[in-house]
Amino acid sequence: MNLGSFKALGGVYAVAKLLAEQWEAGGRGKLEPEDFLNAEVKNFAQSITYVCASAGNHGLAVAAGAKLFGAQSRVYISQEVPGSFESRLNDQGAEVIRAGMTYEESVAAAIEDAALTGAVHLADGSWENYTQAPRLVMEGYTVVAEELREEFESKNEWPTHVYLQAGVGGLAGAIAYMIRKNWSVQPLIIIVEPNSAPCLKASNDAGRCVRVEGIVSNMGRLDCKEPSMIAHSILQLSNVEFITISDDDAIAATNYLDKQGIPTTPSGAAGYAGLSKLLSLQSQVAGFLPLVIVTEGAL
Ligand SMILES: Cc1ncc(COP(=O)(O)O)c(C=O)c1O
Repeated sequence: MNLGSFKALGGVYAVAKLLAEQWEAGGRGKLEPEDFLNAEVKNFAQSITYVCASAGNHGLAVAAGAKLFGAQSRVYISQEVPGSFESRLNDQGAEVIRAGMTYEESVAAAIEDAALTGAVHLADGSWENYTQAPRLVMEGYTVVAEELREEFESKNEWPTHVYLQAGVGGLAGAIAYMIRKNWSVQPLIIIVEPNSAPCLKASNDAGRCVRVEGIVSNMGRLDCKEPSMIAHSILQLSNVEFITISDDDAIAATNYLDKQGIPTTPSGAAGYAGLSKLLSLQSQVAGFLPLVIVTEGAL
């Protein structure tokens, strides 16, 4: 969909699933994939607004999904989100509202909006009593792990170490879940977070979801101070390790990937930064074969 990140797999899919659910709840029968773009369904979708907060990419996915199926979208972004995201969100037909200085403040604004307007709240994070939409978002991301599994299975070549960068942990949780469930050769999984927002590590240490404090990171899409409850629960059961990286580590990784012809951002390069930091230690392992996922292209 040319949205520039893996997030298209989650938000668009979740819009489709939630739309189908609302359609079916009205006694209209089952909505098959080929029905989604029918005029009747688009007409139905027209009155639905999907609202979310975003550091950029999740909002783009929700807006693109809403646009595709004929619905409306409203996306809350903090003052820290680059202006380029704002214009790309507008191009996807979203109403964009700047709210707060942090990602968490924009989430609070989206929650309030949904409560006041009756819009459907489609967050990528999850918390107590709010899991349905984010579970769908994460289900969408599982495609990444399944495509990787097929590739590794066909070549019979498996990574020994998988580095997953995390914001609220939706991607990391979805991929770790699929690896532990479906991959026939098991790697070490390392969750990579900015050192100013290690909410998943802190939650893992505490055995419950906790909020961390920290300065603003240059890894904008990973700068989440509170984890997704679903992601935290999965990671607690998935035998993973955690590492934090600095803004400088992320810049160095971005520059390296750029030289390799993979233009990305500090958020996109964070997995690679995690690998670089652990390289001298982990590359001692026989048959060392690391996997990193570059999660977005350069902005
Ligand atoms: C490019 C990029 N990488 C990684 C992430 C982290 O995903 P999650 O918040 O699901 O942990 C995001 C989230 O927005 C992202 O946009």
